[in-house]
Amino acid sequence: MIVILLISTLSCLLVWIYLRWTKVRSYWADRRVPHELPHPIWGSLTFLQKKNAGIWMKEMYSRFSSPYVGIWLFWRPALIVNCPEIGKRILVKDSDVFRDRFLGSGKNDPIGGLNIFTSNDPLWTSMRKRLTPVFTSSKLRSLHGLLSAKSKQLEQRIRSDVKAGDTINLRMVYSDFTTDVIGISSFGVDSNATSKGESHMRTVTKDFMTYNFWRGLAWSCIFFFPELVDVFGFTMFPKKATDYFKKVFHSIEEQRRTEGSDKRDLMDALLKIKLEAEDTNEGITEDAIIAQAAIFLQGGFDTSGSALTFTTYELAFHPEVQDKLYHEIVELKQRIGNKDFHFDDLVNLTYMTCVINETLRKYPPMGFLDRIAAKDYKIDENLTIPAGTPVYVNAIGMHVDPKYFPEPEKFNPDRFLPENEEDIQPNTYLPFGEGPRVCIGMRFANYTMRYALASIILNFELRPLPDAPKPKDVEIEKMGIFYMPSGVMSVEFVPRN
Ligand code: HEM
Ligand SMILES: *[C@@H]1O[C@H](CO)[C@@H](O)[C@H](O)[C@H]1NC(C)=O
Ligand SMILES: *[C@@H]1O[C@H](CO)[C@@H](O)[C@H](O)[C@H]1NC(C)=O
Ligand SMILES: *[C@@H]1O[C@H](CO)[C@@H](O)[C@H](O)[C@H]1NC(C)=O
Ligand SMILES: *[C@@H]1O[C@H](CO)[C@@H](O)[C@H](O)[C@H]1NC(C)=O
Ligand SMILES: *[C@@H]1O[C@H](CO)[C@@H](O)[C@H](O)[C@H]1NC(C)=O
Repeated sequence: MIVILLISTLSCLLVWIYLRWTKVRSYWADRRVPHELPHPIWGSLTFLQKKNAGIWMKEMYSRFSSPYVGIWLFWRPALIVNCPEIGKRILVKDSDVFRDRFLGSGKNDPIGGLNIFTSNDPLWTSMRKRLTPVFTSSKLRSLHGLLSAKSKQLEQRIRSDVKAGDTINLRMVYSDFTTDVIGISSFGVDSNATSKGESHMRTVTKDFMTYNFWRGLAWSCIFFFPELVDVFGFTMFPKKATDYFKKVFHSIEEQRRTEGSDKRDLMDALLKIKLEAEDTNEGITEDAIIAQAAIFLQGGFDTSGSALTFTTYELAFHPEVQDKLYHEIVELKQRIGNKDFHFDDLVNLTYMTCVINETLRKYPPMGFLDRIAAKDYKIDENLTIPAGTPVYVNAIGMHVDPKYFPEPEKFNPDRFLPENEEDIQPNTYLPFGEGPRVCIGMRFANYTMRYALASIILNFELRPLPDAPKPKDVEIEKMGIFYMPSGVMSVEFVPRN
């Protein structure tokens, strides 16, 4: 009797699963949206742990000539947007429908879950409102001393490595530098990684950089199945890192409270927000404050480090571009009477802007922009997506579409020259995202890269190492969500004087 009951329950369950599956499978076909049939478990995510998410996005762009493509995150339908006009509506015009990100870091880890990258409303709005004024150019100007000192240390570090005959691992050296700059500004803690290649803060960011199966799985869940993050006990930041963040934060807070501070860095701004929020009811707890410092570090050090790496690499392979940049920097230097660059001088390096933009076109660290629809939304006359549908604006796909960027494989900063600016169609270039959730650290990253590049290009000629792979053959991290190199990248630094 029991056996029969068991068998019939099981059959019912299987039939139910099968019927559900047929409905899931025909979801995009029913709506006449181009798609590839999903895998019965992974949906469209069969690339995870095998192929970089950015490369997959490029394929999902070029394989279809349609403004959007239907995909499945496991069994959950989601939409990739390959079209600048629809992208703009989602990111900017109708951003009230798309305020939230789909990704999430669960509830078990406050530092991973309360920062403005992973959090949604109401916390996101009140936090972002308070943080935005901290990242204006006028506030960032007070970072001059730090950026100037650290870019000098970067030059000296490379000089001494060259003298010692060491091959320089670009991404390591640049992440030493960006860890110092962001770590010192966000946590107020002394870090000397640019000179020494190590510091306590650097141990933490080195931990962030290591990619293995489990970290890959954790990131995959954060991005594509946030409900599972808590189930598996994943965290965005390793436990060791959050413990260290809390410890450092408390000691610097104590120090600044007793001694006062004239630093005007990100840490000062965060402490001020903490004080102001103490009497309000907006859920801005101490954890929520530390979480912001943590995401500045996590969101900033590897992205700008990798951008500096790819810029250096491409410049070594393009001597004509390098020459032009070198001359621009030398001319500016002479114009200001051979003094050190000040913050406002660096604004005048027009060609440097083009070089940085071209690097971020070819190698956007975060190639797609993640949102979720808060209510039913009409994409166009043929398609309305229901509330709760995840949407990805495919920035990296547009960046390499020859329709928008002719000969997309070519490293050609001239496409961003002021006289060519009108050839670039609006909303096809999105390395920092767009709209209310645009990268908050965009200017911070811009100036960090400018100081570093000015110092490097002025002091060294860059050449490719013999047998080094061409830029197009550089391998991208296969297990990664972010578009980063997987191997060591190096060039020859030839001191100019
Ligand atoms: C080259 C360097 C960088 C690149 C390419 C980059 C790119 C991005 C992108 C594409 C987004 C998503 C934007 C969107 O969804 O519309 C983002 C968000 C974010 N970035 Fe950056 N980023 C860089 C550096 C930084 C730095 C230096 C910081 C901090 C100091 C930072 C902090 C953040 C934060 C906190 C967010 C979340 C913003 C929000 O959701 O409100 N990033 N970044
Ligand atoms: C940083 O390291 C360099 C090289 O080892 C050393 O000369 C310098 O004094 C260190 N600075 C700090 C603040 O520890
Ligand atoms: C970087 O700064 C320069 C000079 O102010 C500006 O022209 C350029 O658009 C900025 N780029 C980014 C990515 O913010
Ligand atoms: C930089 O540009 C600003 C405005 O574009 C100009 O006023 C200033 O003189 C320039 N500085 C130098 C050193 O060229
Ligand atoms: C809607 O579908 C029709 C028929 O496939 C097509 O001709 C039309 O261009 C589509 N509209 C949009 C806005 O894509
Ligand atoms: C360079 O990139 C920034 C950031 O995306 C953008 O604001 C700026 O307009 C770009 N510059 C040019 C000349 O296209």
